[in-house]
Amino acid sequence: MDRIRIIGGERLKGTIPISGAKNAALPLMIASLLTPDTITLKNVPNLADVGLLIRILRNHGTDTAFDGKRAIANGHQGDTLHLTARDIVDTTAPYDLVRRMRASFWVLGPLLAREHKARVSLPGGCAIGTRPVDLHLAGLQALGAEISLDGGYVVANAPGGLKGGVFSFPKVSVGATHNILMAATLAKGETVLENAACEPEVADVASCLNKMGAKIEGAGTPTITIQGVNELEGATHTVLPDRIETGTYAMAVAATGGEVYLDGARADLLPAALDVLREAGVDITETNRGLHVARNGAALKPVNVTTAPYPGFPTDLQAQLMALMCRAGGVSQIREAIFENRFMHVQELARLGADISVSGDMAKVRGVPSLRGAEVMATDLRASVSLVIAGLVAEGETVVNRVYHLDRGFERLEEKLGSCGARIERLHS
Ligand code: EPZ
Repeated sequence: MDRIRIIGGERLKGTIPISGAKNAALPLMIASLLTPDTITLKNVPNLADVGLLIRILRNHGTDTAFDGKRAIANGHQGDTLHLTARDIVDTTAPYDLVRRMRASFWVLGPLLAREHKARVSLPGGCAIGTRPVDLHLAGLQALGAEISLDGGYVVANAPGGLKGGVFSFPKVSVGATHNILMAATLAKGETVLENAACEPEVADVASCLNKMGAKIEGAGTPTITIQGVNELEGATHTVLPDRIETGTYAMAVAATGGEVYLDGARADLLPAALDVLREAGVDITETNRGLHVARNGAALKPVNVTTAPYPGFPTDLQAQLMALMCRAGGVSQIREAIFENRFMHVQELARLGADISVSGDMAKVRGVPSLRGAEVMATDLRASVSLVIAGLVAEGETVVNRVYHLDRGFERLEEKLGSCGARIERLHS
């Protein structure tokens, strides 16, 4: 298994290109199941999760092809992806594929909408809590689906097709919003989703669906209205920039000091995180093409943060913020309010000398004068990158094990940080 080796202590200086958002690219790819025509996605990040989803979609009969060329460490891969699901050849998404990535469960809604039946394994994904799928199922039932569980599979049928309905989410769920939104595009009549997720990735997917001929209004707000249509057609769409990658590199620069231009980043996609960084003493300037992030000399101030659905502070940046606050001058309080088990990075940060105590959903981070390099283990995608941030500021050598988690969500991480002066390399096993 590959590992990442970091020699800490270098300030970051340079430019980092921001990739297309993983969490938009995945549902956009899944939306291709809704039409026999070709969906062309531009700015698709080269990530393990994208590769895995391609395998899952191929199993349903989707033809996939990349074009364009991009230089990466292990070859060339295009970032424009064409997906054509002319015929759905299989409405089963098997355990062996779905268990590796939770987002693959979102094929349920599109398959049900187009083929009126689907059999999808209950999902896997990062180990960050129980992560049930009850909201996905309740929403599809509100559109008339008959659902049962059989041997670890969700079996869904909609004889005669889905019918529009009203569904109010008892809790905000990004995935369930994607799933039901996609299903409702081909349902008969009007669907209203209340308390829907407002994440920019939901609005991005809706914008692509509208290009495909869907009639969706209100995506990006808590109330989404969908007028069902008989069929959808092909479209071309550019994936929006990754706000979590943006926030992660901004926090890396904040931790090490220095100044970096995040090329292609959009400040409007992460208002809460940028506010927190400014409060901590980081300079952030928006330009028409990206974000300039700098911390030159100013000490880091502690912050109090609670994660929340968009536009609140994202749970996907909580671990990175914690790594950053390890170097602040005082005590920070970080409350994780989305997932109940997303503090797995705490014990690994402690191996680097962090002083963090956890009580329930609250972590108290006492800033320390220095961190010391150590061997650490990544437990999930965002936890892994928090260890990279800590390693960048720690004295001496840090080795992060289980790098496959990072490869799921960060494109060319070593290359991007290395080009800004970080001493970071991948050790191939
Ligand atoms: C999406 O996961 C993201 N994944 C996650 O990013 C992100 O952490 C999460 O949203 C929250 O922002 C993708 O976009 C691919 P949820 P999702 O449904 O959709 C509970 C990353 O690192 N819930 O919004 O799976 C759930 O347990 C990943 O890129 C139910 O109770 O998250 C959680 O407490 C990790 N029942 C809360 O809702 C359900 O049926 C929010 O989960 C569904 C969810």
